This record gives sequence, structure tokens and C-alpha cells, in this order.
Amino acid sequence: MADQAEKLREIMRNKIPSSRFEDSLPQKASRIISVSSGKGGVGKTNIAINLALAYAKLGKKAIVLDADLGLANVNVVLGVIPRYNLYHLIRKQKKMKDILLDTTYGIQIVAGASGFSKIANLSEEERKGFIEELHELSSADVIIIDTSAGVSNNVLTFVAASDDVIIVTTPEPTAITDAYGIVKIIATEIDNIDLGLKLVVNRVKSVIEGRKVAERVINIAGQFLNIKMDYLGFVYEDVLVQNAVIKQRPFLALDPKGKASICIDHIVRRLENMDFKEGSGISQFLKKLFSS
Ligand SMILES: Nc1ncnc2c1ncn2[C@@H]1O[C@H](COP(=O)(O)OP(=O)(O)O)[C@@H](O)[C@H]1O
Ligand SMILES: [Mg+2]
Repeated sequence: MADQAEKLREIMRNKIPSSRFEDSLPQKASRIISVSSGKGGVGKTNIAINLALAYAKLGKKAIVLDADLGLANVNVVLGVIPRYNLYHLIRKQKKMKDILLDTTYGIQIVAGASGFSKIANLSEEERKGFIEELHELSSADVIIIDTSAGVSNNVLTFVAASDDVIIVTTPEPTAITDAYGIVKIIATEIDNIDLGLKLVVNRVKSVIEGRKVAERVINIAGQFLNIKMDYLGFVYEDVLVQNAVIKQRPFLALDPKGKASICIDHIVRRLENMDFKEGSGISQFLKKLFSS
């Protein structure tokens, strides 16, 4: 896995002179946040979408990019049926502007391509095209990348290049173990220690439960991996989330004052108060994506 990622970087190093990235600066700094987890079904997609809605409430331009190339479902949770998705972009049948989708919630999405796995397996030409098209997103204030669960090259490459990496877990022992697992793999595979790893504990029944779970993961990561993680916050277990999924509407839109919605607002407020490095943006993202 590490070898493939390295190969990918090698290819890009040779194909794109680094000045290519510098040339396109200066540009607006888009904060790029990826949302990942060890275990599936812990709430990544819902958190990614609703974080974007909370950013939009603050007047920010937010885009959710569905990078779950196995089980893409951002559009399903939002109840939109995209005509085109990342598949068409990667296959060069469509441009980013053709696949970028407006929603009625003040956010835009880039729909994922289900069953189309591994960006690392793209041809060189496809990869180059994909990267060029990513530049089209640079007008956004924040780009939230919903990745698949577990570790693949695709997840690792996005994670390595993001400004912030949110790891989602639930209080379930299996989710906690898997969260630790993905942090360990990230720590081993990515040298960039300055990753900005952040933990969200989803589906908690109390503030204390959230804090306890977070302490466990963060302490183990610090003790055994020497990795610093911040506790970003929790989301209450709330039937609103299930209802929203059934209605195919984001829960923040369905009930902005709901328990889960308030938690999301808190998380965005915390993110906004946290340091966000200068020099972010798509160009930096791509630079980090393809340089060692
Ligand atoms: N805070 C929550 N409260 C109640 N149910 C939740 C919560 N978060 C997630 N869920 C349930 O878990 C399901 C999976 O969430 P999803 O965001 O699709 O997870 P993932 O993207 O990690 O696979 C949702 O459809 C919902 O039923
Ligand atoms: Mg998902």
C-alpha cells in the first residue's frame, strides 16, 4: 500500500513540475477537511454534509466531495440524483463545472462514483486530468471530503493532503478499536506529523461518555504512536439523524435546533477557532498530495 502511494507520488513528481503549483498562487485559501473512520456506518457522511451546512450558515462557501468510491452516498442523504459524478470527471467525459451540483441547502456537492475504486489505479492521463479539475473547486472556503471507511490509497492520499483530518468514532468498542487502527496506519504511512488529526465521537448519550471515549483514543494515540489528536467534539445519539436520512434531508435543515444539529454547530465553531495554517488551498493540497 505504501509502495503504491509512493509510486503515485513518484509519477506526479516527474510529470508535474512543482512550479505548476506555484504558478496558480495566490488564490483563496480553501480549508480542506477530510472525514474518515476505521469502521463503516459511524456517521461520516452525515457529519460531513451537516458540517458543510453549518459552514454555509456562517456565510461560507462549502463543498462536499464524495470520495467514497466504494459506497458513494452523499447524494442519497441529500436526496439528489446527480446526472454526472466523479466517474464522468475521471473518465474525462465531463468537467468539474458540469458535475458540481447545487443543492437547496446552500452547499454544493461533487457526487461520488460508486463501485469505482482506487484513484491509484487510474491511468496517468486520468490522474492528471482529475488533478487539474480539482483546481476548479478553489473558490470554496471549505471543502469537506467524505472518504470511505478504513484505509485505502485513496483515503490515505486525501488524508495526507488535507488541512484537517476528522476521525469519527462511536462509543462502540469495535468502532473505537478501528478508530485507533486507522490512526495507527495514518501515523505509519504518512510522515507529515503536522496532520491536524481531530476526533469526533458520534452517537453519544452524554457529554461525559463523549469525553471518556475521546480520552481513550487520544491517550492511546499519544502514548503508543506519539500522535497528537485534538478532541473536536461529540454528536448526540438523536433519532433526528435517522429521520433525516429517511427523509433524505440533512438533519441540520430538518431541525436546526435538534440535539445533533447543535452539536454540529459547536464543532464548526471549534474548527473556526482552531489554528488553520496559512497557505492552504487547492494548490497546496495538490502539492502535498504529490510531493513527499
Ligand atoms: N448521531 C446519530 N444519532 C442517531 N443515528 C445516527 C447518528 N449518526 C449516524 N446515525 C445512523 O447511522 C447511519 C449511518 O450513518 P452514515 O453517516 O451513513 O455513516 P458512514 O458514512 O460512516 O458510513 C445513519 O443512516 C443513521 O441511521
Ligand atoms: Mg458514508
